[in-house]
Amino acid sequence: YTVQFDESDTEKGGYPFYMLKEIDEQPAVMRRLVQTYFDENGQPQLDKDLLAKLNEADRLYILAAGTSYHAGLVAQPIFEKLAQIPTEVHLASEFGYNTPMLSEKPFFLFLSQSGETADSRQVLVKVNEWGYPSLTITNSQGSTLSREADYTLLLNAGPEIAVASTKAYTSQIALQAILAQALGQKRGVAAAESLPLKGQLGTIANTMQSIVDEKQEMDDLAKKHLATTRNAFYIGRGYDYAVSLEAALKLKEISYVQAEGFAGAELKHGTISLIEDGVPVLAIITDERVASHTRGNIQEVRARGAQVITIAMESVAEADDDIVFPDVEPLLSPLVSVVSTQLIAYYTSLNRGYDVDKPRNLAKAVTVE
Ligand code: G6P
Repeated sequence: YTVQFDESDTEKGGYPFYMLKEIDEQPAVMRRLVQTYFDENGQPQLDKDLLAKLNEADRLYILAAGTSYHAGLVAQPIFEKLAQIPTEVHLASEFGYNTPMLSEKPFFLFLSQSGETADSRQVLVKVNEWGYPSLTITNSQGSTLSREADYTLLLNAGPEIAVASTKAYTSQIALQAILAQALGQKRGVAAAESLPLKGQLGTIANTMQSIVDEKQEMDDLAKKHLATTRNAFYIGRGYDYAVSLEAALKLKEISYVQAEGFAGAELKHGTISLIEDGVPVLAIITDERVASHTRGNIQEVRARGAQVITIAMESVAEADDDIVFPDVEPLLSPLVSVVSTQLIAYYTSLNRGYDVDKPRNLAKAVTVE
């Protein structure tokens, strides 16, 4: 399946920067993924050989770099819950230097927007030497990682021009969820059989739309809390932890604010020493298993003078939260919560007067190790 793009796809279409256009495209990209990868009965439609190979595996190894690595971290519990396949996520570069002990029947999943990242490719070369099966999930048909892996699934997200990756990240998560559900169904996993994933992704597209429609809120928050700060922290627990890493990366990449994402519980083990008057702390709260603990972290940092911004899902929201979005399937909430953080990063960069699409020192694809 291929999607043709006309020239307007690579033009800014009235947007000041590609990044904003690409953030706004995410609901449409979700809907296109649903159209591409589900049949009319709502069942995932994927290559049968790929599913058979994956079904033989006893462990899934996800390899990626940068934002794609963060998409792998979000997908790890999705694979384990929906497909009951033990899943490890590795930075491709570190895997190369420090190869872990492998299971008997490993399957390798390469996540790469560009399909050209050298750190990931050096692992794929080894995987091919070892003779293990592999899949590349990429936005770039015919790319190196796609050509050299056994299987490819395309994101069909349209060209991503801004250096900071947005729609590739969310579509990588959604496509991995579709793959996890297809594998889980094949394996008879109840969680995969009962999850109406097609409908959920449609709901998520609508919820993403409601966030991009309210982008002024993110602009206001960025102006109020991040206009001059030198550093900032994102915190989250459970499903919100991986999002906090991506949110911090996005802010660093384009606004040059030194930002870190933390697991909420780790604050007390060191990071809290950095919290002083006026430091922005952005908390992501969607995971009800841990929401009350994250609320506890908020009290701790507020008591030390932090300016707290909260992004919460309705079922765990409180009256004074800054951004609240309607409930979606908790495992998939990162698809929605991240959109607010993309917009916060965008407006922070814009308000500080930077070239949002072309941050200093960064390249869209890095083809050296
Ligand atoms: C570069 C880009 C990042 C990206 C990373 C991995 O560093 O600046 O935005 O996440 O490469 O790229 P890939 O194409 O493999 O997803």
